[in-house]
Amino acid sequence: MNHRVDTTAPEAIGIVQISDLHFRDGAGARTFVAHEPQDGLAAVLVHAEQAIGTSAAVIATGDLADLGEPDSYARLGEALGALPVPVYCLAGNHDRQDPMQACLPRPNVHLEPAVQVGNWLMLLLDTNAHGLRAEADGTYVDREDRVHAASHPGLTPVEEKRARAILTATRADHVFLWLHQPPLPEITPAAQGDSELARLVRDFPAIRAIGAGHLHGDLSGEFEGRPVYVAPSTFMSIDPPNRAFEGPGYRTYLLHPDGRIETEVHIVPGALTDALRTAPLPPFFTDLLTGTVTTDELAALSDAEFEERYGEPRPMRRS
Ligand SMILES: [Fe+2]
Ligand SMILES: [Fe+2]
Repeated sequence: MNHRVDTTAPEAIGIVQISDLHFRDGAGARTFVAHEPQDGLAAVLVHAEQAIGTSAAVIATGDLADLGEPDSYARLGEALGALPVPVYCLAGNHDRQDPMQACLPRPNVHLEPAVQVGNWLMLLLDTNAHGLRAEADGTYVDREDRVHAASHPGLTPVEEKRARAILTATRADHVFLWLHQPPLPEITPAAQGDSELARLVRDFPAIRAIGAGHLHGDLSGEFEGRPVYVAPSTFMSIDPPNRAFEGPGYRTYLLHPDGRIETEVHIVPGALTDALRTAPLPPFFTDLLTGTVTTDELAALSDAEFEERYGEPRPMRRS
């Protein structure tokens, strides 16, 4: 689906990125977080109200739901449907595509479109190929182990073809790619080199930058010579330099007509952030952030191996 928001905008375009909302279908205790995902999103939306009001769109970069229940998408659709601007969503490794497609969309809440805003194209990609299984009829279904299997970005042939067709046809001067799992070399080595995503980015010089989530933190890096920006989570974030938990947050962008990008991370001050900052960060998070272990290596560990290595049960294991 192609949308065109405003092709005449002469000024810089504002975008608000929210990510890793991890909505649940009801109250559910998390191992080390006391608040509910919707409380984090609510705090973010209050803090970002002015930025959203002056932005062209909100972009939600995956892990919209934690376990993929239909009601979690329905709840999220209600929250995002109330926003005064269009919301463009893509799927993360935690999402389940059938309930997401059935229960999330609203008149202003869309899934994985390509949207032109001014002379910029926003291209939202589904990079969960490793968590999908191809059916005989050419469609894809979620693998049972999607959460872990899709821990690094991958493109199905169908999604790659869609992206290439859009990138070939676009008349936009600049392209911003949005996806869930950031292709940062130190964290997702499998995405480097000759991956479908690397070839796609190499083949289209108009791609200026990549916006991602998944790591729940204020991180950035480079992929195929383009900047990669990672947003904090609206639910619970991490603070990589301090190896600590961090509060709910979001990223704002100004996309200039000449291709320049300004971006800023915002952590929402308040009780949720205060509580998270006092919680100890599990050692596996530190290993992940320092590149001591990759997401693939972590995902490959059995629960017993994880516990042996880290001296505690895997906190976010989902079957
Ligand atoms: Fe996440
Ligand atoms: Fe994720």
